[in-house]
Amino acid sequence: MTSRPEQDMETNVTVVSAADMTDARKGGNTRKVFVRTYGCQMNVYDSERMTDVLAPEGFEATDDLEDADLVILNTCHIREKAAEKVYSELGRIRKVKEERAKSGKDMMVGVTGCVAQAEGEEISRRAPIVDLVVGPQSYHQLPSLLEKARAGSKVVETEFDIDAKFNHLSERAEKQVLKRPPSAFLTVQEGCDKFCTFCVVPYTRGAEVSRSVEQIVSEAERMAAAGVREITLLGQNVNAYHGTSPDGAVWGLGRLLRRLAEIDGLDRLRYTTSHPRDMDDDLIEAHRDLKSLMPYLHLPVQSGSDKILKAMNRRHTRDEYFRLIDRIREVSPDIALSGDFIVGFPGESDQDFEDTMDLIRQVGYGSAFSFKYSSRPGTPGATMDEQVPEDVKSARLAALQALVAEQQKAFNASRLGMTCDVLLEKTGRNPGQLVGKSPWLQPVQLDAPEDLIGSIQAVEIVDIGSNSLFGRLIAGQDDLGRSGRIPAPAA
Ligand code: 5AD
Ligand code: SF4
Repeated sequence: MTSRPEQDMETNVTVVSAADMTDARKGGNTRKVFVRTYGCQMNVYDSERMTDVLAPEGFEATDDLEDADLVILNTCHIREKAAEKVYSELGRIRKVKEERAKSGKDMMVGVTGCVAQAEGEEISRRAPIVDLVVGPQSYHQLPSLLEKARAGSKVVETEFDIDAKFNHLSERAEKQVLKRPPSAFLTVQEGCDKFCTFCVVPYTRGAEVSRSVEQIVSEAERMAAAGVREITLLGQNVNAYHGTSPDGAVWGLGRLLRRLAEIDGLDRLRYTTSHPRDMDDDLIEAHRDLKSLMPYLHLPVQSGSDKILKAMNRRHTRDEYFRLIDRIREVSPDIALSGDFIVGFPGESDQDFEDTMDLIRQVGYGSAFSFKYSSRPGTPGATMDEQVPEDVKSARLAALQALVAEQQKAFNASRLGMTCDVLLEKTGRNPGQLVGKSPWLQPVQLDAPEDLIGSIQAVEIVDIGSNSLFGRLIAGQDDLGRSGRIPAPAA
């Protein structure tokens, strides 16, 4: 997913600092919190909410670790390396903490997220500087947990009570939203009941729980009122969403999107990450019916081999995936498809891998993420026979990534000469430059005045880079307040 923080929950480690995330009490005795976020967008969203609940306690976010009174590592457990990075980061933090102690300053250290959930007390045993370990369902309790830790006890809170979390975190002050970019995340469900045999999510995030329609709509309305133009609905298995509406009916994701599309000022909607089995007709048709639903879909398939799909417990065949893609392209021919692939799952033969390459060739992706299988303790995959040697995994990953890179280049090149709506999000690297997002989720760089940040502009795509597009603002057209794309005659 382009830059993975934008895209997937379970990804390359990404680091997002929270400097502009809080609305800390000004003046008075402010304390500084440094939040480092690993993994998926769900963690990015959770980190923002943690800084939200800490703000009334007088915490202001900082980018400077050495300046922090409280350090939070919001962790990811999806692959082994992600957890190891946390431990090595804790080693670095220990040194900073010791330095601060020399000048009489304290530093508290918290580990949150999926490593916290999975490893619990083991974390403070392995890294004694850790004062508190808090699982993803308990962030609303941070202030009181912090109090306990400050009083001297090691705190480990890994209860599963997701409803309580949603209820307590649902209030989000407009002032806080305003400080954030015009594109925001909104969690609509958490957890997963699919139990793919390689995946820790059902264990770290628990069973699938959907927020109520009312809660989501009111959070989205507050975001829109504060200037958010694009919302990405988040969930580990987002299209399994089944939230209760005010009249007690159960709504799927398609229906929820239709309702959110009615909110004034919300010009763009996205959702991630989906499972092929949960792509129902209503959701597919929403891509046809809703102008604000962006033409981008992240739909991981993981493997193109029926044998491996079965061993992964993905609950669908290769052919069923092809048929699904056909139906989606029927209603949205121009959609940018993205996916996740795992190479080297136990038992994957050369032929199985070839089947994956063949699937990729047949589908044609706009982008995709790929990973070497990483054995996760406690998952069925970890004890399967025929684990694939590391060098074979590496060779397969390189081949797959080369193929996807080619497809991404071709997809980007096909945008050349088009005019499309771009949501301008932030300043670029060079003076006078802004960076925005195309309907297909590609970053677009262009020269434009800073006061256009937060607006949607018609932009002609004039050049293509490896990951981003380069555009030219179309003069005379200001904020169109519309989404989707306007096909233009080729240049
Ligand atoms: N090993 C490698 N990749 C994994 N993923 C999830 N679990 C594992 C694992 N054990 C990948 C899947 C998923 C993505 C977010 O991370 O492709 O879709
Ligand atoms: Fe993990 Fe499978 Fe659930 Fe995705 S659908 S979160 S890969 S168990």
